[in-house]
Amino acid sequence: MAERPYIVGNWKMNGTRAMLPEARAIDRAAQRNMKVEVAIAPPFTLIHAVHREAEQIGVGAQDCSCDPDGAHTGDISATMVADSGAKFVILGHSERRSAHNETDAMVAAKVRSALDAGLRIILCCGESEATRDKGEAESFVLNQLRTSLPETDNAAEKVTVAYEPIWAIGTGKTASLEDIEAMHGAIRALLVETYGEEAGPAVRILYGGSVKPENAREILSLSNVDGALVGGASLSAESFLGIAVAASEAEEA
Ligand code: PGA
Repeated sequence: MAERPYIVGNWKMNGTRAMLPEARAIDRAAQRNMKVEVAIAPPFTLIHAVHREAEQIGVGAQDCSCDPDGAHTGDISATMVADSGAKFVILGHSERRSAHNETDAMVAAKVRSALDAGLRIILCCGESEATRDKGEAESFVLNQLRTSLPETDNAAEKVTVAYEPIWAIGTGKTASLEDIEAMHGAIRALLVETYGEEAGPAVRILYGGSVKPENAREILSLSNVDGALVGGASLSAESFLGIAVAASEAEEA
């Protein structure tokens, strides 16, 4: 593992200003646990407020438009995301792909816009249960990444990959430890092929899908698992921080 473990909370479409005390509590605890890098991606409407609360944690968005500006009612550009105080954006989440018909090509265009706006990227990939049952999980995921991983200068420094099997998101099911390790190993090989022997190993690969304090330590101890993208369990400071503590224990072990 190249850097500190990276634990990112994806609040999805949850949270009003009433959630700000949770963000504050996460930030205060993160100041004490320096072994772990902690970040939250709240809804767009809370980015600025969370950014103002946060001294330690990173703040990001859950999506951005691929267009720079113009007549796109309801959309938010990467520049606007950066202007609101966000430092990164989650792109290609399976909920965006399924509910908003985002293709790999659209995700790739969003990646370019986000990099142009100076944002870091958490690029999501993951297979459906049917794809895994057919034995095609690895080729599917690697293909998603081949299409959307940026190859511009220094891109590796800006990218984090999140492997999230779709059937494990919000279901309470997690992939087996063997399957997680095998997929993360395959993704690492692709990153080395794409970015070279020096930069490829330094790109962080997060696991996501029903990560909680009870299972975080064993998942985060696996090789090539450099952190977690956490949905449901990031909505309370207590459970999210439980995952951060598990990450620091896994790091020490
Ligand atoms: P979950 O969501 O932790 O609720 O499964 C993870 C995600 O979608 O990023």
